[in-house]
Amino acid sequence: TNTTRTFPEDFLWGGAIAANQAEGAWNVDGKGLSTADIAIYRKGVAKSEYKKHNAINEEQIKTAMESTSDREYPKRRGIDFYHRYEEDLALFGEMGLKTLRLSIAWTRIFPNGNETEPNEAGLQFYDRVIDGMLKQGIEPLITLSHYEMPMYLVNHHGGWTDRKVVDYFVHFCKTVFTRYKDKVKYWITFNEIDSIVRHPFTSGGIVPERFENVEQAVYQGLHHQFVASALAVKYCHEIIPGSQIGCMLTKLTTYAHTCNPEDVLVASRDNQFNLMFTDVQVRGAYPYFTKRFFAEKGINLDMLEGDEEILKVHTVDFISFSYYMSLVSSVDGDRLEQVSGNTTGGVKNPYLQTNDWGWQIDPVGLRISLNELYSRYEVPLFIVENGIGAVDTIEADGSIQDDYRIDYFRSHIEQMHEAILDGVELLGYTSWGVIDLISYSSSEMEKRYGFIYVDQDNDGNGTLERKRKKSFSWYKDVIANNGL
Ligand code: BG6
Repeated sequence: TNTTRTFPEDFLWGGAIAANQAEGAWNVDGKGLSTADIAIYRKGVAKSEYKKHNAINEEQIKTAMESTSDREYPKRRGIDFYHRYEEDLALFGEMGLKTLRLSIAWTRIFPNGNETEPNEAGLQFYDRVIDGMLKQGIEPLITLSHYEMPMYLVNHHGGWTDRKVVDYFVHFCKTVFTRYKDKVKYWITFNEIDSIVRHPFTSGGIVPERFENVEQAVYQGLHHQFVASALAVKYCHEIIPGSQIGCMLTKLTTYAHTCNPEDVLVASRDNQFNLMFTDVQVRGAYPYFTKRFFAEKGINLDMLEGDEEILKVHTVDFISFSYYMSLVSSVDGDRLEQVSGNTTGGVKNPYLQTNDWGWQIDPVGLRISLNELYSRYEVPLFIVENGIGAVDTIEADGSIQDDYRIDYFRSHIEQMHEAILDGVELLGYTSWGVIDLISYSSSEMEKRYGFIYVDQDNDGNGTLERKRKKSFSWYKDVIANNGL
């Protein structure tokens, strides 16, 4: 057992971004339109109103698809990583990142999602980025699907509800595995695969009003993603010997509001539900409690013969997850003060501080989460998102004194280290987002996560100039000293 104050020698310190929030260049070099490209920035919606930000209906889709504005639809412009990746990779290299988690946009490679031949220009972009990473000594960690499925599949196939989408996605995966087999060892299948139940559109391309029974559609879409993920594992192992491929969960660790057994039951069921997704992807089958769950909701999954076998055989090599905050549940939830969190919300925890968006800052919850996941599955873990969204101010001397960010990271890294001492096997840690980028939930720019500041406001004004924040040199030191 490692009882000294060190991290494993080969610990993968890094940072994370996603194509749809960073690249921009939404209509460049043959890229197709994705769900992220039609996510509108809603000015004036309260910071904590995550549900309002993500609402989508037929009319909004129509308006968005006809619009060419990248002011209203900020993910179309991102932070222009598409054209500035060299400068950004140089900064990541300077920080000493050992790994960078990024995603490949499906619509750059297959603009509609279902073509037979890939778009060579799209592949060439990732050739350049991956080669650039390797040149900086940065190990690529690639997410295959991060909140950006092709709009063509949304409009013509009902998103992930159509079984055919599994084949299209697998074709995309095989294409990139083959292209990058000598360069990329670490892969992740679906970002926050559980989020389809909270955000059917972004995660599953499911437009609620197009379905009579939305829950049925959501769980059918989820089932297809589970199968697609398992097939991605299969082909990743076949095409890239020695590769490691993981699932990705929004870790929503939930506490009971009181020791009233009814509160404890609600919280324990929330936790159980959160782990349903990893149960399928790590243990290879739907867990026992889903039978009753589906029956009570009247959900009948359409499973093909062979699906159960696919899930069983092609389980993941590691569990990756995002962790930003913890939640609280109560039987009286509706009558208690609420706060928001990552794609969700819950009861306020009086013991915790919140960030400007109402997310409860809970470093100890990270240690709890790591132990919970490891004791249940005993497979290596990878924290692939953790960080704090904050409004940063530029001082008169041009500096950005983001001590609150340093405090957040320090306290979480300390707890992560405790979990390692507890015996948890952890492959690495990638902070979200290592450079400021467009917020997933609200499409704001001013919800900043980075060690690197990007000069751009919510409306897209700014020079896009990159600037090191105070936390930049702090994280550089953390990595250089392997976490000490
Ligand atoms: C996760 C996503 O849900 O949280 C990221 O995987 C996202 O894409 C991150 O950016 C932070 O959420 P937000 O809404 O603050 O950008």
